[in-house]
Amino acid sequence: MSDKLEKIVSLCKRRGFIFPGSEIYGGLKGTWDYGPLGSELKFNIKQEWWKFMVHQRENIVGINASIFMNPKVWEASGHTSAFTDPLIECKFCHERLRADNGEEIKNHEEIHKKKKEKVEWTEPKQFNILVEAKLGAVEGEKTTVYLRGEITQGVHVNFKNVLDSSRLQIPFGIAQIGKAFRNEITPGNFIYRSREFEQMELQYYIKPDGKEARKVFEFWKEERMKWYLMLGINKDKLRFRQHEKDELAHYAKDAWDIEYQTSFGWKECEGIHNRGDWDLSRHSEFSGEDLNYFDQDTKERFIPWVIETSSGVERPLLYFLLDAYHEDGDRVILKLNPRLAPYKAAVFPLLANKPELVDKARMIYKDLKKEFNIAWDDRGNIGKRYYAQDEIGTPYCLTVDFQTLEDDTITIRNRDSTKQERIVISEVTSYIKQRLN
Ligand code: GAP
Repeated sequence: MSDKLEKIVSLCKRRGFIFPGSEIYGGLKGTWDYGPLGSELKFNIKQEWWKFMVHQRENIVGINASIFMNPKVWEASGHTSAFTDPLIECKFCHERLRADNGEEIKNHEEIHKKKKEKVEWTEPKQFNILVEAKLGAVEGEKTTVYLRGEITQGVHVNFKNVLDSSRLQIPFGIAQIGKAFRNEITPGNFIYRSREFEQMELQYYIKPDGKEARKVFEFWKEERMKWYLMLGINKDKLRFRQHEKDELAHYAKDAWDIEYQTSFGWKECEGIHNRGDWDLSRHSEFSGEDLNYFDQDTKERFIPWVIETSSGVERPLLYFLLDAYHEDGDRVILKLNPRLAPYKAAVFPLLANKPELVDKARMIYKDLKKEFNIAWDDRGNIGKRYYAQDEIGTPYCLTVDFQTLEDDTITIRNRDSTKQERIVISEVTSYIKQRLN
């Protein structure tokens, strides 16, 4: 694990962002639990995505579909046969790795080499990464279902429902955020590759026309890149990468990833995919439902094509953390965009043993909590309290001192510049609001 990633992992554990899943039982590989600060950060990322992709657009709506679906869905979508990764097994120690992960294979071989052991691999075989579950109350008659491997299919099976219950006309999109599950052969790099994770996706339905598809594809590529830049990720650490033909998922005609330069290499954030008519055609065929769209203007009937933007939540979350992490001597600062920061501000009484300061500070704290998530701290010296907030990315610290009791002003300290200014209490809410916009 890279040094920087190790620091993030340790910060996440120490300050309550992310814990290993089921830790008191020795953990469960590829699962992570989000603590008080991590769940706020995750929530803020999802909210920013939803605002940007759904609320700010006229022709995009959201849905929230079931995780359990009729198993035929996954036959139709091709996942029961093609949702696979190539697996190889070390004949010496029986560890299983992905055959397409050169770095892990090299590391594994190095370990054996050091012990003067000979490594030999089995031939690659295709390993299906859908996670199975059993549903039903009668033993022996339980149905095998799959935990969804992508959240996408919940949207496509509801294409007709959404169309019939709304006034949408092509082009339009359906967005969704939710959990997905994959039996990854080698989960790793902290939350980068997990077995349970969340996705944020848009399925955008268009006319079946190559020229239109290319135009819409470019549009969504740019929009998605804008989102990361808007939330403050360093531009030089982002890039696009087109998938090679042999890398394309079974449903994709074309795919571009947005990648981030992590401390462990350029890694995928999200993908923009041209899924053509794959999903709706297959669901029409397998379900027997006519999923054609009728165009009122041209009187044409057709199966729409789909341009998809598909992101995880955890990978962007990890990149926001890596990008925000700064050290200044022994001070750690998470320079998170204020919109993503778990706490928007922290309120401190200068001295915890002066009831008049504590009472005033608590009043301000309670008032601000009606609008924002606000932290409270009255322990130790003020410098340590600033450092503790810097480390979790709180953009503003508000201190109530003796002058506050005289003129109703407080000091507001900026996390990144460490500059302090005095403002009147009645302006604090609008001060923070302005900076969140
Ligand atoms: N519907 C298309 C789809 O699911 P994908 O490239 O397989 O496409 C989309 O996944 C995104 O989901 C990835 O870019 C990544 O952000 C996230 N993702 C996929 N597998 C993941 C895993 N094992 N752990 C964490 N995030 C994952």
